[in-house]
Amino acid sequence: MKTIAVIFGGRSTEHDVSIMTAIASVIKPLELTKQYQVEPVYIAKDGAWYWDQKLKDITLFQSGEVQDFIGKAPKTHILFDDGLTLVKSSQFAGRKQYKKIDIVFPAMHGTHGEDGELMGLLEMANVPYVGCNLPASVLAMDKVLAKQVTQTEDIPSTPWTWFYANDLAHHHTQVLKKIESLKFPLFVKPAHLGSSIGITKVDSKDQLINALEVAAHYDNKIIVEQGVDNLIEVTLPIMGNDEPMPAMLEQPLVSAEDFFDFDTKYMRGGKGGKKGGAKQGAQGYSKIPADISEELYKESVQLGLDVYRVLGCTGTARIDMLIDSKIKKVMFNEVNPLPGDLYAHNWRAAGISQVELVQKLVGFAEARWQETNRRTTSFNTNYLKQF
Ligand SMILES: Nc1ncnc2c1ncn2[C@@H]1O[C@H](COP(=O)(O)OP(=O)(O)O)[C@@H](O)[C@H]1O
Ligand SMILES: [Mg+2]
Repeated sequence: MKTIAVIFGGRSTEHDVSIMTAIASVIKPLELTKQYQVEPVYIAKDGAWYWDQKLKDITLFQSGEVQDFIGKAPKTHILFDDGLTLVKSSQFAGRKQYKKIDIVFPAMHGTHGEDGELMGLLEMANVPYVGCNLPASVLAMDKVLAKQVTQTEDIPSTPWTWFYANDLAHHHTQVLKKIESLKFPLFVKPAHLGSSIGITKVDSKDQLINALEVAAHYDNKIIVEQGVDNLIEVTLPIMGNDEPMPAMLEQPLVSAEDFFDFDTKYMRGGKGGKKGGAKQGAQGYSKIPADISEELYKESVQLGLDVYRVLGCTGTARIDMLIDSKIKKVMFNEVNPLPGDLYAHNWRAAGISQVELVQKLVGFAEARWQETNRRTTSFNTNYLKQF
């Protein structure tokens, strides 16, 4: 039986969402396969690692008892030994517990996890891991880099500009000049965050400074985008390596006023009442398939697949797009390398169960790892002998 470590939590504003994804959408279906031994690895908000079967229990987190747990539990260390091994002290003095990991399933959202940091660690350990690799994760989790790279490949997006948070203080006039060419409303966003945190819709110039300061509070890089008019949002989960497969094009139904509200996206029974024909997924109400013309549907799916390829995504990712329904233009918005709940509700609509989904993702991780390890990394030279 293979051992899979599911890593979740982390130093991210999306810490709690990650706990839900890990326990409900990854660990549970992995265990249902009866093919894997699942080891939960929880990264606390301070960055300390814990590994314990108790961490599979959602009530530990819901009740807040996790604070007690981490106060007493030994911290977990990792060893690179031709792969990855988890290590922790046991109750017996001087004795340590070891667990060799065959595959890692990262279930992290946001900073210090989904953004490539964890993937770098796993690359160094040379252990197969699920989802996008290091470079694709870095590109996907930086809204500026993702737009820069896709733009060079002629993938359309709404007009945008960017600057560093530091520029706000030192080059204020230049920053405002850069933004001047964009038409209101504007969307001011921290470049690296998700879940709409720190994003402001700005309707006029007098709201701009405040919005820039909010974004600068969260991030060192800020993107300002021109708002897309007559907006229809669509999102496309995709899985696979060399031959990526799209799920269903989904249309999130979020009203303009509360588009950036964390509660609307994540709090069940909160805002966003049920709308005709809409189902509630992990991130609020949506329509599957998106209610748009066949032409726009096809164009969106193709654009999603193009973005996936250009950014070098593997495993899975979800591509978000904005459509101006009046001029019938589909524009790339952003990529989520590890969408909350893996977008299992959408894959289910596409005929893939939650159990099949995690199995497929593990399969893609192993295939990528084998492919990478087939490549030669050694090269014999006489270089050292000349000295
Ligand atoms: N340029 C834009 N035009 C219109 N609406 C936008 C634009 N950018 C973002 N939005 C709205 O804000 C939401 C959050 O922005 P997004 O870039 O997806 O950030 P996050 O990473 O937080 O999900 C989008 O789902 C959309 O409703
Ligand atoms: Mg988004």
